[in-house]
This record gives sequence, structure tokens and C-alpha cells, in this order.
Amino acid sequence: MCGIVGYAGHRPAIPVVVEELHRLEYRGYDSAGVACVQQGAFRVVRAQGKLSALEQLLSEQAPSTATTGMGHTRWATHGAPAVRNAHPHLSNDASLALVHNGIIENYLEIKKDLAARGYVFHSETDTEVLVNLIQECHRTEPDLRKAFARALSMAHGAYAVCLMSKDEPDAFYAARMSAPLILGVGTGENFVASDIPAFLPYTRKVVFLEDGEMVRVTSSSFAISRVQDLSPVDYRVETIEWDVQAAQKGGYRHFMLKEIFEQPKVLSDGMAGRLLEDAKGVRLPELDGLPVPSRLSIVACGTSAHAGMWGRHIIEALAEIPIQVEIASEYRYKEKLLFQPDEMVLVISQSGETADTLAALRRAKECGAKVLGLCNVVGSSIAREADCVLYTQAGPEISVASTKAMCSQMLVLTLMALYWGERKQIVSEATRAACIETLLSLPQILEKELPSMHAQAKVLARKYAQARNFFYLGRGHCYALALEGALKLKELSYIHAEGYAAGEMKHGPIALIDSAFPTFAICLADELLPKVKSNMVEVQARQGKVIAVTTPGVDLPADDLWIVPDVPSFMSGFIVLPVLQLFSYEMADYLGKDVDQPRNLAKSVTVE
Ligand code: G6P
Repeated sequence: MCGIVGYAGHRPAIPVVVEELHRLEYRGYDSAGVACVQQGAFRVVRAQGKLSALEQLLSEQAPSTATTGMGHTRWATHGAPAVRNAHPHLSNDASLALVHNGIIENYLEIKKDLAARGYVFHSETDTEVLVNLIQECHRTEPDLRKAFARALSMAHGAYAVCLMSKDEPDAFYAARMSAPLILGVGTGENFVASDIPAFLPYTRKVVFLEDGEMVRVTSSSFAISRVQDLSPVDYRVETIEWDVQAAQKGGYRHFMLKEIFEQPKVLSDGMAGRLLEDAKGVRLPELDGLPVPSRLSIVACGTSAHAGMWGRHIIEALAEIPIQVEIASEYRYKEKLLFQPDEMVLVISQSGETADTLAALRRAKECGAKVLGLCNVVGSSIAREADCVLYTQAGPEISVASTKAMCSQMLVLTLMALYWGERKQIVSEATRAACIETLLSLPQILEKELPSMHAQAKVLARKYAQARNFFYLGRGHCYALALEGALKLKELSYIHAEGYAAGEMKHGPIALIDSAFPTFAICLADELLPKVKSNMVEVQARQGKVIAVTTPGVDLPADDLWIVPDVPSFMSGFIVLPVLQLFSYEMADYLGKDVDQPRNLAKSVTVE
């Protein structure tokens, strides 16, 4: 996830572009850049780090008088955060500049082809490949609009791009495919941006561009056409009523809610480029050079540790690798770390900066283990220090309570299980294909279900808001989800909640149950259902109320049934997760708590 903006108008473009980027900084902040055409040549300024670094550089240069320009704030997906990887990227002949949000899945193939034609690359990005592909198409197609469309139809993946040519200094082009891009229609000025807040102080009139559409924009005109055949598009100009703050949250009340609703996209982005074309296998080139681990210790904190606990079940089942999951603050101080040959450590961290997880990584490396990292933030300390890193590609998570990051971690753990299972020749092609088919169906299922889940969460939150305690029960992979459900409820609503393996209830915790102590049970239609069901009966026999998450057709003795779609085996975790998140979110919001910044908590715990 990155932020892109384009401006064509009557004001000096660069200050407008930078100001717009500030309102998109939530989309990425590891590097930034701007471009405009000045005296027949591109002027590109790029800086690593937050926007302030770019502003500092710009302040040291003579101000530009160009009234058309574009900019980018980056959240790295290909290549470390560094100036050479920051956008805009120039084509080899310096005639074109491009900013890009998204992933071009087949960029390596295109890069190889262009390199064979003599193109040179100065970055590790897919963006630089695309801008050179446009140059290559423009060589034989003098109409830039046509050359741009031709190049786009050769690129597979999800993208929103903005293109400028030194030969058309007062215009820019933009296009989208499965990544957001909105046109802002002003008076004597027009905009494009990844999100509406970017240009909201200038205009409230917008056109939502659709997938497969491109636009040529000047200060006084815009022409939208289809990439496929360049036919003109009928568009509708809409008026936005939100203020800037509401718009940054995409109209959602809180970032947390927005991030929960982003999970369908997180799943499709996380799969992009990682599935074989025939959808029968997984591609994880990061792991190709390493042996399949003989054993794996998964080490993490908080929600990331719960993702690890969940992943343990799927990796053990599909790849037959014995797993232990350890809390980083415990692991780092273990008396001895003992490793067998080819045993590895997998550290999971959204931020890549959690002090205990980083220390655990260092200790494991010191003791001779190979350490794999699973991180969201590209170039973070854990990502840099791990022997090999896999990225979750979930985009920045703003809300302190982690939601979409866990979904993305669970996805990559599933892909790792399939990948290692295939390398060990344990998972049959049919099983792999069935798992992948389910994974591919998840974004659509979730997209459809999230609004009704949200409505159900509202109803139940109001009903149970008086509770001061809560149990969360699950078995198998749902035990990890029960722990996460309890963590979310306590961190957001400050209601005491405990997650338990359902079978463990009778060994003590059940003593607490009474009519004021409800239980949230995860009871899916799997082989453990009869067991969880009898645990629920035990709770109810002590007057405890039960909310049960289950699938259609399951007969349960619950006080409140929360029915979710039936998804095969482990993949049901991706459906249950947002149920738990939304319930906690609604509880906290109903009780008037600070959802995005709960008391006493920090997004990234960089101290011990
Ligand atoms: C903090 C956050 C949690 C997060 C944990 C681990 O406690 O509040 O939401 O799960 O750190 O963070 P990491 O970035 O390592 O995944």
C-alpha cells in the first residue's frame, strides 16, 4: 500500500502535491518523492524516511514553477526503503516518470525481456520495470495514451499508477486495476489520488475510476477511457460530504473498523504473485534456497504469537513439521536454546521492531539457528536481521489493536505450510488445489459477510455490555483464535477476558462461571464439535450464558448463535477472526472507549 497523487492546475504543483501526500501518509511513510517537468526535463526529488525528509530536501532547492506534478509516499513491497527504490521512477531515456501503488506480479519476466533489449535498472522495484515497458511501447507507438495502454495490458497484478511525460509538461495520465484511484474535479485544476482526503481541501467533486480505466488529465480537462480498447467511459461526478478526518478513515468511525474491513484486500494482496498460474501450488522464492526445517520454533508477542499458534496447526498438518510456539519475552531468556540439525526459528512481528522478538531473534542466531522473519514493515529491524524474510504485504496498520496484520500472518503461514508440504511431497496436488481454491474464495466471502457480521456484533455488544468478565473457548486451531478474541476484548473494552482450550475449563476456570460470566465459544462443524458442545453444556449448567460462533445447520444449546459461512477446515479461521474483532470493536465503541488508542498500550513495543 502506497499513496499516489497527481495534480494539474494553476497553482505551483509541488507544494500542493506535498500537502496532499501529508494526508496520505497513513498509507505509507518509508520514503517519498515528487516529480514535475521544468524547462523540458524532469525534476525528480526523492527522500528516504517520512515526508519531512523530502520537504527538507525541497526547501534546499529553488522552488519549481511547474503547475503540473505528481508525488508518492511509499510503503515498500519490492526492495528496501531507500532513495533508489523511492518513486517517481524515470524511464531509461528520462522521457517518462511513474508513481505506482500495488504489485506488478509478472515484473521479473518483463524485466528480463527489457534487460535483453538493453534496458538498465537502478532499483529493485516493479515500478521501474513498468515505466521502461511504457518507454519500450512508446518507441513504436507515438501516441503515449496508446503506448501506456499497451504496456498496462502486458502487466498483471494490482496497481494504480500516475504517469508524466517530459513532452507533455501540462498533463498527466493515470490508470487503475484493483487498487484505489480517485479523480478530483476542481475549477481550473484537477487531481488524482489513492484516497479522497488528499485533495479534499480543494474539491469535493470526485469521479471513482473503475478497474481497467485510464485517464488523461490537464488543468481544464480530463478524458477517461478503457485500457483494453481505449473506448471512452461514461462517468458520474459525485460530491463527497465527509470532512478530511472522516475521509482518512474511509468513512469508517475508526481506523480499526477500516482495517477489519480491509481484510478481503489483505488476503488478495498477500496471495498476489505467490500462487502458481494453475492455482495448484505456492511460490515462495524467499524459501527456495533453504532446506525444509526439521523442526520450527515460532517466536512472537501478542497478536503475532496468536497467529503463530494458529499457524502451528496448519504447518503440522500439511507439512508434518513439529512446531513449538514461544512467547518472545520468555524465549529470549531461556536457560538453553537447543537446536537439532536443520531446525529453524520463525519470528513473527507486524512492526518488525518489537524489542522482545528482536532480542529472541538475536539470541537464536547467536546459538546457531537459521531465523526466518515474517514481518509487515519492509526494512524493519527484524526484517533486516533475519536470515530470510517473508512480507505480509498488509499495508500500514494504524489502530493499536492488531487486526488485518493477524489475517495476513495467518495467510502467509498457510502458504508456508502448503509450500513445505509440497517440497516434502506430503500434500497431494488435489489437497493443495482444494486449499488454494478455498483461499482464493475467501476475499469474496468476507467482502459479502463483513457488513452482516458487523450488524450482529452491534446487537450482541449491546446485549452483553454489562459483563465484567468473559471466557473465550475453542479447540484445535480455534484455541488460538479464542486467545485472540479474549485479548481483543480486554485491550479494547477493558473487560476481563480469558481464552481457554475448551477441554481445560473443567480443570479450574469453570469455578468462576455464574449468570454474570458469559462465554464466547467457537464451535465449527468439524470433528471437535461434539467436544466443544459438551463444554458449552457444562457452562450452561452453571447458569453461564453462551454466544456460539458456528456454521449453518449445527444444532447447539447456545443463548446466542452467530452463524458464519462454512469454509473447509483451517480456512474457517479467516472467517472467525473478524467475528471476534468486530465483537470487541463494538463492545469498546458502545462503552465509549478509545478504540484506536486504548489506554496503556502502544502499537510497537520497542522497550523490554
Ligand atoms: C503490541 C501491540 C499488539 C501487537 C504486539 C506485537 O503489544 O499492541 O497489537 O500484537 O505489540 O507486535 P508486533 O509488531 O511484533 O507484531
